[in-house]
Amino acid sequence: MDTVLVINFGGQYAHLVARRIRELGVYTEVVNPEDASTAVRREEVKAVVLSGGPSSVYLHDVTYDVFSNKPTLGICYGHQLIAKKFGGVVKRGKGEFGKTKIQLTQVDDLFQGWDREEVVWMSHQDYVAEPPPGFVTLAVSENGYIAAMRSGNIYGVQFHPEVSHTPKGKLLLQNFVKIAKISPSWTPEDRIGKIVKNLENITGNVVIGVSGGIDSTVTAVLLHRAIKDRAKAVFINHGLFREGEPERVLSLFKSLGIDVIYIDASEKFLSQLENVVDCEEKRRIVGEVFAEVFSQVVKELNAEYLAQGTLYPDVIESGGVRGSDKIKSHHNVGGLPPWFQLKLIEPLREFYKDEVRAIARALGLPDEVVTRHPFPGPGLSVRIIGKFTREKLEIVRKATKIVEEELERAGVYQKVWQAFAVVGDDVWVGVKGDRRSLGYIVVVRIVESEDAMTADWVRVPHEVLERISTRITSEIPQVTMVTYAISSKPPATIEPC
Ligand code: XMP
Repeated sequence: MDTVLVINFGGQYAHLVARRIRELGVYTEVVNPEDASTAVRREEVKAVVLSGGPSSVYLHDVTYDVFSNKPTLGICYGHQLIAKKFGGVVKRGKGEFGKTKIQLTQVDDLFQGWDREEVVWMSHQDYVAEPPPGFVTLAVSENGYIAAMRSGNIYGVQFHPEVSHTPKGKLLLQNFVKIAKISPSWTPEDRIGKIVKNLENITGNVVIGVSGGIDSTVTAVLLHRAIKDRAKAVFINHGLFREGEPERVLSLFKSLGIDVIYIDASEKFLSQLENVVDCEEKRRIVGEVFAEVFSQVVKELNAEYLAQGTLYPDVIESGGVRGSDKIKSHHNVGGLPPWFQLKLIEPLREFYKDEVRAIARALGLPDEVVTRHPFPGPGLSVRIIGKFTREKLEIVRKATKIVEEELERAGVYQKVWQAFAVVGDDVWVGVKGDRRSLGYIVVVRIVESEDAMTADWVRVPHEVLERISTRITSEIPQVTMVTYAISSKPPATIEPC
C-alpha cells in the first residue's frame, strides 16, 4: 500500500502530521531517524515528511540518512535540515511564534488553493538564512524569513501545516500527497486487515484485559478475529467502575460471541487503596493489583502475551515517546509493575481515538460502544482527590450516574468527549432541613476534545447544570455543594489527578 513515511525528530509534531495525512485516507507510518535509512527506501514508501523537533541543526552533525529520490517535505526542523544538508545557512533568528502572515512569492503545486497572503502557525527560533544552491523560495514571512522553498521534489516549509491554526495546512498536505501521486486508499477496513494480519503471526495464547471501553473491546475483537480462541478475554472487576458497568460489559461480550473470564477482585483493590492519598500511588496500586490478579489467570491459561488497548495519546503522555515529558503515568502504559513479565501486544498503539472509533464502526460494534465516553483504566480512583475512601467512591459513582443521565436527557451526552463527577476533601457548610451540616463538594467536569491531547470545558445550558446540582445534593446526602470545572487542557488535564 502506498505509504507516506514521517520521520520523527521529537516532540508531538510527527504524530500530528501522520494523523492529518491519515485523515486524507493515506497510510502513514512514523519512524525514528535512526531507522529512516532503510525505511525511506522501502518500495511502498512513496513520500517522506521530515517532522519538526526541538533541536538545532547547527548544534550537531546531521548524519541521518533520510534523503532519497522520493518527494520529501521538511517541516520546521525538517525544513532547516534540508537547508543544512544541501548547503544552505541556518541561524538563530528573532523567533516567530503563533499566527504569522506569509506571502507566496512563486506559484507552486504545493500551494494550490492558497491565496497570495495566508496565515500560518509558526514556532521557531532558528531560520533558514540562505537557501541551498538550486532552491527557489516559495514564500516569505513578514520578517523576510524563508517560509517555504523547493528544489525538484524536495520541499521545506518553516511553518506547521499539521496544526489547525494553519487554516490551509491540511490542503497543503493534500497537495503534497498529490505531488507524490498517491491516491487515498487507507480505509478503516484496510486498517483492520493490516492489524489482523499482523496479529495472525502470534503463536502462543494471548490474554486481553477487557473493560468494556472501546479500546479494549476493539483489541479483543481484532485478536479474536486473528487467533480465535487463543485470545482469552479477562474482565477483572476492580470495584472502581461506574454503576451497572460490570453487568453491561458481560452482556456486551456475550452479544459479540466472545467468552469472557470474569473475576471479581474488587475487595482486593479497594482494601489496598483505602486511605491512600497520592494519585500516582493510586495508579501504581491499581496497576500492581491488576498485574497480580492477572498473572494468576495467565498461569492458568498458559498465556505468553498480554494485549492492551493502549492508544497513542496514552503513550505520549506517559513519556513513552522521545521528546515528550511524563505528565501522568497512564494505567495502560506506566502502571504495570516491573516484575510483570508478559510480553505486551498493543495493536492500537499507533492510533488516535477517532481512528479507533472508525475501526469499531467498521467492525460492526454496537453504537453504545462506539460512542461511549473514554474511562480511565484505574477507574473512579483517579476521580477521588486526596484520601481514598469507600464513602467518596460511592459519592463519585452516584454523582457520575446523575451527570450522565442528565446529559443523556438533554441530548448532550453524545456530543461531548467526557462527563463525570469528582470529589475531594474540601467541605462546604450546608443547611439540610433546619440543620447546619458539613458536606462534600462535588466537581462536575464536562469536556469536549478531539483526542484528549487538548480539551475545552463545555458550555452546557444552565438549566442542565442546575438539574445536575439539584439532583446530586438531594440524592447524595453527604454532598452540600456542586461546582463546575471551567479550565481547559492545557493548563489543566481532563481528570483531576
Ligand atoms: P488527562 O487527565 O491526562 O486525560 O487529560 C487524558 C485522557 O486519558 C484518560 N486517562 C487515563 N486513561 N489510565 C487510562 O487508561 C489512566 O491512568 C488515565 N488517566 C487519564 C482520561 O480519562 C482522558 O480521556
